[in-house]
Amino acid sequence: MKPKFAHGAPLRGLATNPRSSLFEGTFGRMFRTLPAAVFLKDDLINLAKAMSADPDPATPPEEIDSEENSAIDAGYTYLGQFIDHDLTFDPASSLQRLNDPDGLVDYRTPRFDLDSMYGRGPDDQPYLYASDGIRMLLGRKLSGNGDSGTRDLPRIASDRMSDKDMPDRALIGDPRNDENVIVSQLHAIFLRFHNRVADFLEEINGRTTFGEVQKMVRWHYQWVVLYDFLPTIIGQQNMAEVLPGISNSYYSESKTPNLEYYSWKNEPYMPVEFSVAAYRFGHSMVRPFYLLNKNLDLIPLFDRFGKGETLVGFHAFPENWAIDWDLFFGPAAETGRMRVQKSYKIDTSVSNPMANLPNVIAGDEFSIAARNLLRGNNMGLPSGQDIARLMGLTPIPDEKLIVGKATVEEQSNNRTILEISPNFKGNAPLWFYILAEARHFSYKGDDSAAFHLGPVGSRIVGEVFLGLLLGDFHSFLYQDPNWKPFAQFQQNGTFKMRDLIRQAKLAK
Ligand code: HEM
Repeated sequence: MKPKFAHGAPLRGLATNPRSSLFEGTFGRMFRTLPAAVFLKDDLINLAKAMSADPDPATPPEEIDSEENSAIDAGYTYLGQFIDHDLTFDPASSLQRLNDPDGLVDYRTPRFDLDSMYGRGPDDQPYLYASDGIRMLLGRKLSGNGDSGTRDLPRIASDRMSDKDMPDRALIGDPRNDENVIVSQLHAIFLRFHNRVADFLEEINGRTTFGEVQKMVRWHYQWVVLYDFLPTIIGQQNMAEVLPGISNSYYSESKTPNLEYYSWKNEPYMPVEFSVAAYRFGHSMVRPFYLLNKNLDLIPLFDRFGKGETLVGFHAFPENWAIDWDLFFGPAAETGRMRVQKSYKIDTSVSNPMANLPNVIAGDEFSIAARNLLRGNNMGLPSGQDIARLMGLTPIPDEKLIVGKATVEEQSNNRTILEISPNFKGNAPLWFYILAEARHFSYKGDDSAAFHLGPVGSRIVGEVFLGLLLGDFHSFLYQDPNWKPFAQFQQNGTFKMRDLIRQAKLAK
């Protein structure tokens, strides 16, 4: 049966993968009829402070930390960041000008096309590619995780750069993917996965081309985005709201996606409600410390004021820091030092490293909460309550919009948004509202609850993901919605991020 959302045959020539596609997209508004919420800068700064956690001591890896989200492994935080860097890049700082989204350029294509990895392709940016013009270039060997094929990103060695003080910068499609050691190694996994697909296609067909490999890599990635990442973040119930036919593992072709608020005239745009608010939910999931492999101790993510080693990126890191991905995506022990690390809860608290970003990442305004709230204000986003009402939902009452960590221990310290400022009455910034909503629907009074986005956040993120996939005539959902990952790559009838990693490790 022909799936209802197949848009017919693509126009001639559009079904092939262009090697030099447009590298940019446009921003726009999803909720054009709603007024901009107006806030005082001081109120936003005070809210940002209340959302920013004090430094926490490291919890030993074998101990469950009360801020952990039992539903989401820590790897999904960085897969989320990787996806963000594929979709959206607004280089204008939150501290500059008032912004009209229609006039802003998204320096990433709003498509799940891995332009952050491929750049403009082997013809335009050959230095990202191996000499066969098909495979991706890899960097030096890393050790410590038991996977002898582990490689760093390719880097320009400092002695070859004109400025001797420059650290070894990564040669990649989007420099943000070297911002921390975890997203950087995740990018390297995608490079190896590309090479694995090249090996596999050569094995079965005798030869292959860059275009064929790229298309299959994108489709496997899109599958992971749709059937692994998205339900992990929004939960199966919210997933079924936007994609009613979804079964446990993949789309059932009898139903159409339910896109009520995200539509476009000519081609999909990047909605600011997504890029400036909803999809920044991931900032609350970041842990302050990570265990990279069994031979190391916990390493702080960033330390703006300290001198010790951290996971801050944009330079080569110690060679024995190879990540053991079982600690980030499972399967790993449930208990003990080698248990899989969980992300932090999707709540109205960001961990201290995110409140004190290093200069190399954030310059002068080093609080991510302040940056997000100020950016949302400059961009004239509607309030969370207005969007909830438009969606036919009852907005969460002010006294239930709680600021701070969703842990039992913090209950007595938590404040309501009105205790931060009475000016927030019935009028909460969208980024805050989406996090408060996740907390409201997930927190059950004990520390072990599963945290997902709530109805407003899930609908924005879910609709934009599905809309971007459906509006992209190169995506598997547009071209062949019944397509499935290579049978040899699947496990238990589906293909998840951990399967992609397993395959990447097999690259020659
Ligand atoms: C260590 C982890 C992370 C760091 C240090 C980080 C840092 C930043 C910074 C400094 C910005 C620019 C903010 C501004 O000036 O407006 C930003 C933007 C953004 N971040 Fe993150 N982030 C991290 C993880 C994540 C995750 C996990 C997600 C989502 C799952 C995410 C989603 C976004 C989005 C959507 C933007 C806006 C991108 C754009 O349109 O330019 N980030 N992040």
